[in-house]
Amino acid sequence: DFEYPHTFILLGASGDLAKKKIYPTIWYLYRDNLLPEKTKFFGYARTKQSISDVREKSKKYMKVRAGEEEKFEKFWQANDYCPGSYDKRVDYEILNQSITKFEKGPIANRIFYLAVPPTVFEDVTVNIRNACISIKGFTRVIIEKPFGRDDVSSSKLSNHLAGLFKEEQIYRIDHYLGKEMVQNLMTIRFANQIFGPSWNRENIASVLISFKEPFGTEGRGGYFDDFGIIRDVMQNHLLQILSLVAMEKPVSLNPNDIRDEKVKVLRHIRPIKREDILIGQYVGNPDGQGDEKLGYLDDPTVPKDSVTPTYALAVVYINNARWQGIPFILRCGKALNERKAEVRVQYRDVPGDIFDGHAKRNELVIRVQPGEALYLKLMSKSPGMKFDLVETELDLTYSMRYREADVPDAYERLILDVFMGTQMHFVRNDELTEAWRIFTPILNELEEQHVKPVPYTYGSRGPSEADKTLANYDFKYSGSY
Ligand code: BG6
Repeated sequence: DFEYPHTFILLGASGDLAKKKIYPTIWYLYRDNLLPEKTKFFGYARTKQSISDVREKSKKYMKVRAGEEEKFEKFWQANDYCPGSYDKRVDYEILNQSITKFEKGPIANRIFYLAVPPTVFEDVTVNIRNACISIKGFTRVIIEKPFGRDDVSSSKLSNHLAGLFKEEQIYRIDHYLGKEMVQNLMTIRFANQIFGPSWNRENIASVLISFKEPFGTEGRGGYFDDFGIIRDVMQNHLLQILSLVAMEKPVSLNPNDIRDEKVKVLRHIRPIKREDILIGQYVGNPDGQGDEKLGYLDDPTVPKDSVTPTYALAVVYINNARWQGIPFILRCGKALNERKAEVRVQYRDVPGDIFDGHAKRNELVIRVQPGEALYLKLMSKSPGMKFDLVETELDLTYSMRYREADVPDAYERLILDVFMGTQMHFVRNDELTEAWRIFTPILNELEEQHVKPVPYTYGSRGPSEADKTLANYDFKYSGSY
């Protein structure tokens, strides 16, 4: 299909996501000649402006290296902007005419990227369906969270979309599925005989999946307060990682075979219970050393009595033959001491110990960011005359082993997938349903009971209670995580 005209329509072209992420992404794809040659880009939003205004606003987010200036000009020549309201069909008809003008030949495909707030989501999709469907090729829509805020609102949205598009046309982005190491999980597990046979409750004690960010909700408090960290990160990014870590081997690499297994493992998880979750909210560090940082409640866009969690640690159990009784600990937080996302698969203690308890647990660490890495902690004899044990690592740190250019950005990869029509790394509707089934009861309970999160200081490792919780769930702490 790549020889035919394609149009990429960015709805919400004047917003933050568009200028900071989507315009740079499509530029890099264009620059690297990854898109169909005849690709045209349209921005659409309420703001009355021209494409040069869009260009100006996104300028500082787009890297143009020496020698690429001409190509950058050509990129903007392939761009257009069409102002219009989100709820008026006639505006979409005008957009449709503009797109059509460019679609020469027998086949032409369209991709719509919805970088719009959830409040206009339904209007936008209805209007695309009514006025902008390609009549001589495919039409695909890319959507991003929030996909509702609980099971009821999410299934309302799903039903709405299902009434307009086929599942094959809907690309639900979870950008963690576009990250190199998340994509690597299946290879690590299913292309290595060393891991396959030990990947179970007999050998693994616990699994920790964490996400840490060193900044708070600065500027995004309005959106965030309505959602909280459980919906923002745990219910989507961390649960997606969990399903890839825990699922059975798919029948094949076909996207639906993979997603069938992801759904199956999620179906074995019972909703999270109150005793299996710890929530936190960051407070400022006015007298702390270094930078003075404000607390979550000091953010003017956040209500003064908000109990929205900015940190959460939850333990989920997968009730199947492979995993019964093994805690999968999901942990995420904002305003912590560092940026890090990783998976730690912690093996059990060696039975029949002959080393007086000096043999530490093996741990397979899959570091998603920063600095992709895969390393296995193991025990070795310390070199020399003595017979001492030392904990060491088999270390595959990507920057040492591969050139950085080999790791593409998540958005670039995912948007290219949409052009190519592969849904392997996108969330299917039934996965979403399961995710909400697992999290909605606890979210409701926390909200109804107005449960107060425990405070933790901006820039710290999170609430001190978390370490105790980890130990209670058979995760042995060693090192800094
Ligand atoms: C987004 C969340 O989905 O992921 C943000 O809404 C979060 O709150 C972001 O900051 C993290 O993404 P990344 O790629 O920087 O880890």
